Amino acid sequence: MLNACSYRQFFLSLCLLFCFSFPCSVKSDELQVLLTLKSTLDKSSPDVLDSWEAAGSVCNFNGIACNGDGSVKEIELSNQRLTGVLPLDSICQLQSLDKLSFGYNLLYGAIMDDLNNCSKLQYLDLGNNLFSGSFPAISLLSELRYLHLNRSGISVAFPWNSLENMTNLTVLSLGDNPLDRTPFPSEILKLKKLNWLYLANCSIEGKIPPAIGDLTELINLELQLNYLSGEIPSEIGNLHKLLELYKNELTGKLPAGLRNLTSLEYFDASSNNLEGDISEVKYLTNLVSLQLFENQFNGQVPPELGEFKKLGNLSLIPHVHWSSSAKVRLLG
Ligand SMILES: *[C@@H]1O[C@H](CO)[C@@H](O)[C@H](O)[C@H]1NC(C)=O
Ligand SMILES: *[C@@H]1O[C@H](CO)[C@@H](O)[C@H](O)[C@H]1NC(C)=O
Ligand SMILES: *[C@@H]1O[C@H](CO)[C@@H](O)[C@H](O)[C@H]1NC(C)=O
Ligand SMILES: *[C@@H]1O[C@H](CO)[C@@H](O)[C@H](O)[C@H]1NC(C)=O
Ligand SMILES: *[C@@H]1O[C@H](CO)[C@@H](O)[C@H](O)[C@H]1NC(C)=O
Ligand SMILES: *[C@@H]1O[C@H](CO)[C@@H](O)[C@H](O)[C@H]1NC(C)=O
Ligand SMILES: *[C@@H]1O[C@H](CO)[C@@H](O)[C@H](O)[C@H]1NC(C)=O
Repeated sequence: MLNACSYRQFFLSLCLLFCFSFPCSVKSDELQVLLTLKSTLDKSSPDVLDSWEAAGSVCNFNGIACNGDGSVKEIELSNQRLTGVLPLDSICQLQSLDKLSFGYNLLYGAIMDDLNNCSKLQYLDLGNNLFSGSFPAISLLSELRYLHLNRSGISVAFPWNSLENMTNLTVLSLGDNPLDRTPFPSEILKLKKLNWLYLANCSIEGKIPPAIGDLTELINLELQLNYLSGEIPSEIGNLHKLLELYKNELTGKLPAGLRNLTSLEYFDASSNNLEGDISEVKYLTNLVSLQLFENQFNGQVPPELGEFKKLGNLSLIPHVHWSSSAKVRLLG
């Protein structure tokens, strides 16, 4: 039988053992967080986490980067065939975490509200996974610069309001998710540093707001496969690389603002209800690909297109359906 005194000795030596085995600080908590992450993921997950051992140092774990103080700064585990539920309640206890990257895995379940506690995050990638349910409000993540949630499985309503103060956001990818139908979210129009906006195939309806032209840093704009209607606003004239609007319900003529997109390389407005002539495209001298088929355009093909040096993929024929073999491509 142990008396009170030897109990005390026992606990004292246990504590000493603990302190010599691990640096006695925040870092043992961080080790615990990462071991919890490892044990929460399904056991069938591949060996990328083999280096994550109780006796190890977190900064040497695969996929982990630390800051100068030895605190975990980044978790980069994209494309690792990881499966299981992501324990964000635990992960978001990492006080210095600024990058969380789990894109292209097989993670499932709901994305927990605790994500909002990861308030230092600048880079968040949960895209290309098998999550389900709604995405939580993340209004505390005001330092975010990259947000990839495309094809992640999230559904229902997206907390658009959470984005309104993320003034440093440069990349926003939310496409290919079965979200509730919504008008173009006005919060996005405040994100003046955006250069990449991927909102394809995620149930955006109504008009493209003219204020899209205020996003002067935008290089890529992808709004295809939605329910957008009305005219393409002439303010769209600032994009440099890519404009994808295919498979919507857009009407009217190609806007006069299009001629200002002189660096645009890819333009696809096929499968809409656009009309009028296409003379506006004659100014887009850097085009690599131009797709305007399945619309109601008329008039002449501008002869200038023949002078475009980079243009290798052109499809203009109106009223032609996807299934038709009559789709004409002028290659060269
Ligand atoms: C996370 O935030 C919630 C409130 O949003 C709070 O109740 C909880 O204690 C926080 N968790 C941690 C680990 O800080
Ligand atoms: C989709 O998300 C992945 C990361 O999960 C990212 O690499 C990719 O660029 C995104 N696609 C688009 C079109 O934004
Ligand atoms: C945006 O970035 C700037 C420069 O890095 C920084 O000073 C500012 O605090 C950031 N804003 C937010 C809301 O994080
Ligand atoms: C954004 O900032 C404003 C002003 O500080 C604040 O009133 C508002 O609640 C913030 N929005 C969100 C979603 O946190
Ligand atoms: C559109 O998004 C759904 C998920 O909501 C996806 O299954 C489908 O493949 C996407 N369509 C295309 C053409 O990418
Ligand atoms: C095209 O750009 C010029 C110069 O930046 C501007 O004055 C003009 O209004 C723009 N045209 C359209 C139709 O947006
Ligand atoms: C031309 O563009 C269409 C639509 O973007 C694409 O499906 C097709 O693969 C492209 N063809 C070539 C030869 O690049």
